[in-house]
Amino acid sequence: MGKYVIAGNWKMNKTPAEATELINAIKPLVADASCDVVVGVPFIDIPAALEATKGTNIGVAAQNCYWEKSGAFTGEIAADMLRAMGVGYVILGHSERRTYFGDTDATVAKRVRGALDAGLTAILCVGEYLEQREQGITSEIVAMQTKIALEGVSADELSRVIIAYEPVWAIGTGKTATAEQANEVCAEIRAVLTSLYNEEAARAVTIQYGGSMNAANAAELLAMPDVDGGLIGGASLKPNDFATIVAAAK
Ligand code: 13P
Repeated sequence: MGKYVIAGNWKMNKTPAEATELINAIKPLVADASCDVVVGVPFIDIPAALEATKGTNIGVAAQNCYWEKSGAFTGEIAADMLRAMGVGYVILGHSERRTYFGDTDATVAKRVRGALDAGLTAILCVGEYLEQREQGITSEIVAMQTKIALEGVSADELSRVIIAYEPVWAIGTGKTATAEQANEVCAEIRAVLTSLYNEEAARAVTIQYGGSMNAANAAELLAMPDVDGGLIGGASLKPNDFATIVAAAK
């Protein structure tokens, strides 16, 4: 469906020197990738990551951004600031932001707006908690998160949106969704996009799976028709594992 994108989400790991080291280790291993490759690094690692990825096929993502261009917003980083540095992507609405730092569907939507206005590609994360899956409301939760985040996003702008389906119960737990579960929800997200836009636009969107994707299970997940890539946490910090996942995305 959409073009394959494998993105690492390093979360709060690595100093700038360590970021350079990790990217230098990853670089040769993914040089022949047939998918897009992205590393999502802490803000302070961005200069080092941009430098280390210069002239390579690896893009750099931030892990959040604010929607205002400047002003009295202590501790925030504007989407325009990221763009000015040369960052291409930003991860938004990750469940860790929603759970620990008060991000809501409404603020995620504003962040998406800010990112798109700044010219960034947004990697929008959606996904249900375990209780929600057990209540049988996964489809509703994920559809609602998707619709609210994309409020006001034009069909044209949708080409700069990647959606990452990350069931919260699978993140960092070693408990992966089955390939069927991952594909089912990714297909539902695509159906939501078809209803909001049209079939052609929906088919072109990259919909990733994230949640304990690793070197051993990536091929099966990525072989599913509606899974167009992965957002990788823990395994993205291990060069060989990350490269194996990248190689599985064909
Ligand atoms: P893990 O791959 O460590 O489960 O993390 C997934 C994730 O949250 C990526 O954004």
